[in-house]
Parts: sequence; C-alpha cells; structure tokens
Amino acid sequence: MKYLPLSSDLFTNNRNNFVLRLKSNSIAIFNSSDEYTKSGDQTFTFKQNADFFYLSGIDQEQCVLILYPDCPNPLYKEVLFLRQTNEHIAVWEGHKYTKEEALNASGIKSIYWLDDFNSILHSIINYSDNIYLNTNENDRYQYTVPYKDLRFAKDLRERYPLHNYLRSAPILRDLRSIKSPTEIELTQKACDITNDAFKRVLKFVKPGVTEYEIEAEIIHEFIRQRATGHAYNPIIASGPNANILHYNDNNQVCKDGDVILFDFGAEYANYNADMSRSIPVNGRFTDRQRAVYNAVLRVMKEATKMIIAGAIWNEYHEEVGKIMTSELIGLGLLDKHDVEKQNPAMPAYKKYFMHGTSHHLGLDVHDFASRYEPFRVGNILTCEPGIYIQKENLGIRLENNILITEGGNIDLMAAIPIEADDIEEIMNS
Ligand code: GLY
Ligand code: MN
Ligand code: MN
Repeated sequence: MKYLPLSSDLFTNNRNNFVLRLKSNSIAIFNSSDEYTKSGDQTFTFKQNADFFYLSGIDQEQCVLILYPDCPNPLYKEVLFLRQTNEHIAVWEGHKYTKEEALNASGIKSIYWLDDFNSILHSIINYSDNIYLNTNENDRYQYTVPYKDLRFAKDLRERYPLHNYLRSAPILRDLRSIKSPTEIELTQKACDITNDAFKRVLKFVKPGVTEYEIEAEIIHEFIRQRATGHAYNPIIASGPNANILHYNDNNQVCKDGDVILFDFGAEYANYNADMSRSIPVNGRFTDRQRAVYNAVLRVMKEATKMIIAGAIWNEYHEEVGKIMTSELIGLGLLDKHDVEKQNPAMPAYKKYFMHGTSHHLGLDVHDFASRYEPFRVGNILTCEPGIYIQKENLGIRLENNILITEGGNIDLMAAIPIEADDIEEIMNS
C-alpha cells in the first residue's frame, strides 16, 4: 500500500457497530476479494472487498474475518485469518502482513494463518444459531462471474445446511452510508490530491496536447501523493468526446476552441474522490461555452443547497430536473412547448442531461446506500449536473463531493477552482 498507516480505531469502531446489529448468538464471516487474472499468471492490481476493509482494515488477498460476539470461546469472538507467507512468496511477491502487523492494522487480537480456518470455524460454528454472510448487494451491480463471497456461501450452505442464514449487506448498507470523522478525513485527502492534479492540468493544457498526455499528468500527481491511483477510469474528453458519457479512450488531440470535460478522482486508502470539470483548451471560453458552463454551475449550486438531511432521493432529482429545464430554455435548447407536451416519465430535459445528479460516495465510488431512505447527516454525495449538446460538439459537467452535516452541508471540493473566471485566470497566469 502506498498510503500511510491508518489507526485501527476506525475498524474496531466499525466492527463494534456491526455486531450490535446482529441477532443473538450469530456468527458473521467475511472474505477478501478475489484476485483476477490479467494475463497468463499475472493478476490485476489487488482491490480489497469494501466491506472486508471496512470491518478489518486489512488490505490483502486471501484473508477471512469471523465475528461471533456471543462465541462461548472468548478467543474466537473476533478472528482474522491471513495468507501465510513464506520465503518463496517473500521473494516473488514481496511483503505480506505478519500477525503483529495485522493486529496493529485491524485491532483484532486473535490472528491465525488461513490453513487453520476450517478447523477453527468448525469448532465454533455449531454453537451458533445464525450465520451472516455477505454478497455484493449494490443495486447497480449484477454479477456475471461467481465471485468469492458467492462461492463461499454455496460451499458453507452445503457443509452446514441447517443453520439459519442471514445477510450482512443490509446492515452494512446502513452503516457505511454514514461516514465517521476518519472516513471524512480520508475522503477529504482524496479530494485534496484531486485538486492538486486538476491545478497541474490547468497549467498544462494548451491547444495540441493529447488527452493521454493530460491523463499522464494526473496519474503523476496522484502517485507522488501516495494515492493508490485513479478511483475509476478517468475521462479526458475533448470536444465531441464529452458527449460520450463513459468515454475513456483518452487518445485524441485537444483542439483550439474546444472544451475538455474531465471526470477523474484519486483513490487514497480505499476512499475516493469523484470530480468533474470542464475547461477551454485555449484558456478562454467562447460566449456560448461560458453560457452553457454557467447554466450547469447554477444548477449545481442550487442542487447542492438541497443536499441536506431529510431530503428524499426522487424529490431531489425531480427538483433538479425542474431547475435544469429552465436553464435549457434559457439556452434555447428547449422551448415551453417541449416542456408542456413532455412525457413525465421521460422529461424533455433528459435529452441534454441524461444521467442522475447524485450518488453516494465512499469505499465504492458509487457507494453502497439505499435510494429509499432520506439523506442523513454523515452521507457524502456527489453533485454532478451536466449539459451535453451533440450538435455543438460541447459537453459540460461539473461534479463536487458534498458532506451532509447537522447545519447543512460542506463541499469537500470547495477549494477546487470552478468559477469560469478562476479557471481562465489560472490557465493564463
Ligand atoms: N465518475 C463516475 C461518476 O461520476 O459517477
Ligand atoms: Mn465522476
Ligand atoms: Mn459521480
């Protein structure tokens, strides 16, 4: 890991909060993520399962966590199993957690090698009544390849068919959506690194640079500040490419007169930033570009005011849609007639703003949270309106990360330049 060590208190608190929600005499089991093949015997960079990390702080493959607060053997109320290293692994893959390091990272005292997992589990599981297992219940996700948690659940149900099986995910969906002070600090760190990368880009961009050269500037800044890398595939979309919502070829030349839409964010200690900005390649917006830019910025400012505790997901998105509609009329992209005859299920504004305004942000970029609960203090949400005009080869999106507090909200990206004048000033200084 490139990030600095974290305090185990974060993970101890998370475990304490989690076990409070279990039925009595329950055991809960969590697995590290799979390692995925990239090529031959090579794997993709390891990415820890978000729930496993949330409860353990352990950022390594082939580990298992057992939580059994009512375990009759006090030694096994919390147990962590680690992949046992050896000289061969040390030479070929490098350092793995020692038991002492894992204790320091997680706060868990009972630590064993993975080889002991089945026998220790068997020695306690038949004293429990309920087994909580975890799967990826993110409502944006549908699996096509059976991943570790699914294989584990199938295997365990065959070995212990008569227990009462329950789901950990609804508990984690609730807990993870409320960010603790340490999680907020880590997200702020990811935002601050993203800010530095954006400022570097503002000084770098000029007509003729390529999208991939800009991508290289960003990753340079991320890595030198101990970010793991990009939180998601970065979008560096100049001119017409900005109208491809998930564009990440990033292989075109940035042309004089075009606007570039960026959507990138750093990942630091598994926490993520998610930022979008749109800047003129030559350092000056045209009048039309500026008008569209300022329309998006006004929608963002109004939407941000609505990201407060108690707001309801659908009502919030409908209100933003109304504000966007009036901006699109102001830009001459819609007229009143379009709006009068619109299908409420597919409002006219969606022709130019086809994605949602917000999503939760945390250990997952599209974080695990309910769409059916009002916003709560401690949520971090993105605010990301955009206007995409194919016939003008212009797409503008602005995106900041907003923390809901008792008194309203705090923009974790408030320090990242966003006013059109500020963008131009930095680009031309
Ligand atoms: N970068 C992904 C998103 O904005 O949702
Ligand atoms: Mn984004
Ligand atoms: Mn986003």
